[in-house]
Order: sequence, then C-alpha cells, then structure tokens
Amino acid sequence: MSLPRNLLRGVLRNLSFVGSPECVLSAKRTDSSYGEPDASGKFFAQTLISMANTILIGMQWGDEGKGKIIDVLTAQADIVVRSQGGNNAGHTVIHRGVKYVLHLIPSGILRRGKVCVIGNGVVVDPIALVAELGSLRKLGIKIDKNLLISDCAHLVMPYHRMLDEQRELRRGRIGTTKRGIGPAYGDKAARTGLRMSDLMQPIVFSKKLQAKIIENNRILQALGAKPISFREVNESYLAAGKRLQPFVGNTVVYLHRAIERDKKILFEGAQGTFLDIDHGTYPYVTSSNTTAGGACTGTGVPPHRMDRVVGVMKAYSTRVGEGALPTEDTRLAEMLHNLGREFGATTGRKRRCGWFDAVATRYAGMINGIDELAITNLDGLDDVDPIRVCVAYRLNGKRLDVPPCDASQLANCEPVYEEVRGWNTSTHAARTFSQLPSAARKYLKYISELTGAKLSMVSVGPARGETIIL
Ligand code: GDP
Ligand code: IMO
Ligand code: MG
Repeated sequence: MSLPRNLLRGVLRNLSFVGSPECVLSAKRTDSSYGEPDASGKFFAQTLISMANTILIGMQWGDEGKGKIIDVLTAQADIVVRSQGGNNAGHTVIHRGVKYVLHLIPSGILRRGKVCVIGNGVVVDPIALVAELGSLRKLGIKIDKNLLISDCAHLVMPYHRMLDEQRELRRGRIGTTKRGIGPAYGDKAARTGLRMSDLMQPIVFSKKLQAKIIENNRILQALGAKPISFREVNESYLAAGKRLQPFVGNTVVYLHRAIERDKKILFEGAQGTFLDIDHGTYPYVTSSNTTAGGACTGTGVPPHRMDRVVGVMKAYSTRVGEGALPTEDTRLAEMLHNLGREFGATTGRKRRCGWFDAVATRYAGMINGIDELAITNLDGLDDVDPIRVCVAYRLNGKRLDVPPCDASQLANCEPVYEEVRGWNTSTHAARTFSQLPSAARKYLKYISELTGAKLSMVSVGPARGETIIL
C-alpha cells in the first residue's frame, strides 16, 4: 500500500476513535502514548494505529515462496500468526545454508525474539506438531514462550488422514497432501470436531474420542479400510497434548493486547488464492479460506486492524495436485525440474509448471485487496527466451478477463499469450532493482501492471539475502 493510502486509513481510524465511548481507555493506563487524561479523568486513544499489521497471501496455487518472504518481513514484525490450513503447508526458509521446512509452526520461529501464534482457524495434528517442534529444536531453535496455540484450533485425527487417503483412491481425486485436512475441516463445519481445548481435558477428550472412533470405524470399514484402535489413538494424543499444554491458551486475547501495545503482527498465509475453498478452482482446492479474509476469521483480529496486504507470486505458475492450470507447459516444467527446482516441500511431488497467468493474479489482487507485490523465483526464468505471459483466456470463442467459476470451463480455457524478451543471464547476484538486466526489469513491471498492484520486493534466490527491496 502506498503511504498516502496508509496515512488516510490512519486518519480515518483516528477520526472514528475521537470521543467514541468504546475507545475510552481505563484511567489506570499509564502508557504515555495515550497522553493526558481529559476532564473526566479518562484517557482517549491518541494513536492506536499500527501501520504494520500485514497479511501475507499466496496469489496463485500455493508454494509461491511465502516462507522466504515471511522470513524477510519477520525482521520488522513482533508476532507471526498462522490463521488457516494445517500441515499440508510446506514453507521453505533457507538461512546460513540450512534449509528449514515449516508445516504448522509459523516461519517467524526462526528469528529470535518473535512470538509465533497458531490461530483458531488452523487445523492441528498434535502428533505432527510435536514432531515439528522436536526437529526444530534439534536444529538449535529455541521454542518455549515464543509459541502460542489457540485452544479453539481443531484437531486433525488419524481417521481424518485415513478418510483423506481413502477418498484419494477413488475417482475424482483432488490430489491432496493426504494430511487429513479436508475431513478435519469437514468435522469442524459439521460441528462434530475435537479441539485443542478438548485435548487439554483428558477425561473429556477420551469420552468424545470414543464416540468419534466408533462412528469413523464404521465409515472406514465400509470403504474397505482397517479400523482404528481407540486405545492407541487415545494414548498417543494425550501424550502429545501433555507436550503441547504449555503453549495452549486464548490467542485472541493475546493478539488484541499485543495490538493495544502497538506490536506489529504478520499474518502468514498458507496455500494460495486458487486453493481457497470459496474463491479457488473448486473442487480442486483445500478446505480453508486461504484469502485475506481468512486472516481475520482464523485469528479473531478484526478487519479494521489490518494495515496492508502483501501478495506473493512466482514469476511463473506452479501447482501440485489435480485441477486446471491453464498456462501449464511441460517443457518449462522439464527445464525447471532439471534444475532441481519445483518439487513439493511437503510431499516431494513434482510441481506442474506454467507461464505467468495474469488473469489469475489480477483476480487474486481483487479478492485479497493486494497492496504490495513480492515476486519470487525470477531467477527461474534466467535462461528462458522468449517468455510467455497469459493476458486473457479464450473459452468457446469468447475472451475472458476473469477465471470462470466452473472447473470444467476453466479446464477448457485457452490462454491468450503475449511474448516478451528474456534476459539470458543470471539474476542471482542482483541486490538492487537497477542491477537487474533491463529485460528482467521490464518483465517485472509488466506482470505487476497486469496484476494491478505495486511491486515492492523481488526474490532472485531462496536465501534471505537474495532479495531486492524496492
Ligand atoms: P511456500 O509454500 O509459498 O512457502 O513455498 P515453498 O517453500 O513450498 O516453495 C518455494 C520454493 O522456492 C522453495 O524451495 C524456496 O526455497 C524457493 N524459493 C523461494 N524464492 C526463491 C527465489 O527467488 N529463487 C529460487 N531459486 N528459489 C526460491
Ligand atoms: P503451501 O502453504 C501447494 C494442494 C494439494 C491439493 C489441494 C488439496 O506450502 O503453499 P489438501 O491436502 O489441502 O486437502 O490438498 O491443495 N495444497 C497445496 N499446494 N502448496 C500448499 O501449501 C498446499 N496445501 C495444499 O496439493 O491439490
Ligand atoms: Mg509450500
């Protein structure tokens, strides 16, 4: 977001505070930023504006390089929050030659002095989370008071994973990560899920689990799968619950108090816009709201506390799993795979690759209200010439500027391409925009303009330092 718009939001927010009874603060407050008390002895908020609460969103089909950009932005944040998804996510951060892949824990955990929050909208597999904590600790990452987990977060259970696997064996498969994400969100929506708060109360948990196991064993057996042992699940989950207990609490109150103290929060999106359950390429999507609104519902932080939305997109397109990828190009995929790139961080699957799709990113800009763009993997196109950019789709002879809602219509869309010149040289060493070859600068400007947002970061390599801030 440009400064004037930011300022305007701040001014508007201040205006709405002046004299508003709900923002009268307790007279006990001693924080000098709230100024002198008025005649009634009460303090009025002078500046409760935090300019920096940032939502970071993937603008394509996931794996845009969010982990790397979050790691860079975390330097300016106090708190990093995950609001949706589960351990289907795989966010890669490379620092000092060490590769970290984060699945459930926010990427901010790698920087000292930052608090990481797993919000209410996340689905947590406690066994996977304990394993992730263990492997991070082995790499020397300290985790104690710097991690909080919402007591309202739903649990991913073994029967969710097994149902996910069973459904993937059947026709119409989605190509999921088989982490049980869909069935877990299904139970949440059906109001039959188990939550972190249940796990914190062993007797309550065991009772609820027993009923869930009976119900799900019937379904699993009907699908031809083995039943699950209540005893084994109960024991392993309660053991994991004990390990997680010090981190579990009311994260909504924590975040609101942090905002009052002007702490800067970074909302770490998982997956990408076209995997969103409402706005994505349904049914080939994940089961949460991966778009900007999900940051509010998944954390309990209201929309007017959000200051900017940063969209991350690759300089080309990738997708794992089934569903249309209109600009898919097998030669581009082969070239990237031969370079050892574009293998899934969670499942190791080869990612499908295609040209940059401006129809998709423009729509993502609209849904998420993207203020700033971070473009990653520019270096993936270093040896590609010419480069194709999809500027529209053609469906049954008609030109489309937005993706159709229907999956089979999307699968029938033909991309309309513009061709631009490549730069045929490495961009890895560039640290300023002007150090990039002129054709690369033109390309970046072109795809940002087509997307309709301001370019603020360019990534030319996986490491923290391989970043150009504009
Ligand atoms: P995320 O899920 O959005 O965090 O993305 P992933 O970590 O799953 O996949 C992105 C991949 O691209 C990872 O292997 C990153 O290390 C890598 N990456 C990110 N930015 C760049 C870049 O600018 N250049 C190169 N070469 N790799 C990058
Ligand atoms: P990050 O956060 C890329 C895809 C799966 C599948 C679909 C549904 O690393 O960008 P699910 O297991 O969620 O039910 O699978 O969504 N998918 C992702 N693709 N990046 C991800 O996360 C993904 N998380 C899920 O491949 O197509
Ligand atoms: Mg990923």
